[in-house]
Amino acid sequence: MRAVVYNRYGPPDVLRLEEVKRPVPTAGEVLVKVHATTVNRLDAATREANRRSGPAVSFLSRLVFGIRRPRQRILGSEFAGEVVAVGAAVREFAVGEYVFGITGLAFGAHAEFICVQQSSRIAHKPTAMSFEQAAALCDGALNALACLRQAHLRRGQTILIYGASGAIGTAGVQLAKYFGTDVTAVCSTKNLELVRSLGADAVIDYTREDFTKNGRAYDVIFDAVGKHSFKRSRGSLTPGGSYLATDGLRNLSLVLWTSLTGGKRVRFSITGPMPTKKDVLFLKDLVEAGRFRPVIDRCYPLQDVVEATKYVETEQKVGNVVLTV
Ligand SMILES: NC(=O)c1ccc[n+]([C@@H]2O[C@H](COP(=O)([O-])OP(=O)(O)OC[C@H]3O[C@@H](n4cnc5c(N)ncnc54)[C@H](OP(=O)(O)O)[C@@H]3O)[C@@H](O)[C@H]2O)c1
Repeated sequence: MRAVVYNRYGPPDVLRLEEVKRPVPTAGEVLVKVHATTVNRLDAATREANRRSGPAVSFLSRLVFGIRRPRQRILGSEFAGEVVAVGAAVREFAVGEYVFGITGLAFGAHAEFICVQQSSRIAHKPTAMSFEQAAALCDGALNALACLRQAHLRRGQTILIYGASGAIGTAGVQLAKYFGTDVTAVCSTKNLELVRSLGADAVIDYTREDFTKNGRAYDVIFDAVGKHSFKRSRGSLTPGGSYLATDGLRNLSLVLWTSLTGGKRVRFSITGPMPTKKDVLFLKDLVEAGRFRPVIDRCYPLQDVVEATKYVETEQKVGNVVLTV
């Protein structure tokens, strides 16, 4: 089969389209013919061993994914496609059914075929969705869900989402609305209409207004793009409010520090439980109820993965970038 592989950590040009052996499903696995996958920030960061996050994070990244070179040569964590074979113990899926899901740190989706455990984060594709939409459903939304859960949101609370136009941000706006909160979305001028259409009650254009100076306070500030900070947000939080982080090693120590000092808290999704198959099914239900839609910025054919990756690395994508296989 064709797959995008990388044999060493480095810039997007290390990615190559190659012929590799098609995987064979074990008893509990389904073999999926991938129709669409995505390039996300996790793919980009892992490919360069998290170099931009500093030497400590880069070292940890190499410990997990391979010290000298990547052990898993195929990136891509999200997929949507058709089941073409099932292992002897598979009961939940049958050949010919359409599925979508996410492999997370196991990757492997930038390929024509992928084997996935039936008990892992895979579900039947919502019928009204295209493969491209289904492929873009999980990453931003599961990250946003994991963050929002840390805040224990209650109906009627106020939340400000900074970076509301990214993969996590566009999902965060819709999920926060679903949880009954009053959402203020912050993004640049060109994305204001989009975030309004996703349900934001108020929007702030950060190129014209600094929300930390508008005199308002929010119960939760969700930094969905890792470009703000607790220090700068603190004055805009209500007493006991939470700052939700998506990035930055410094936030880990702030989680510990603010839990000891009390009052305003920093919360970070990586300290909480990993999203599960139940969460994927929850997203599917939201889509089918018309309460959630993944935002797609661009679609590229699989062979244009380098170009797609370079675009993701501009940190300017709006929602998700899809690869069609
Ligand atoms: N996706 C993942 O798998 C994953 C996993 C864990 C952690 N993370 C981290 O989570 C963060 C968000 O990931 P993502 O995939 O949602 O991001 P993303 O989709 O790449 O975010 C892109 C958006 O960020 C906005 N943006 C860029 N610079 C900004 C700035 N200085 N201030 C405010 N907004 C800015 C841009 O919109 P505007 O033009 O409207 O500003 C753009 O639409 C990243 O820090 C990433 O490292 C991602």
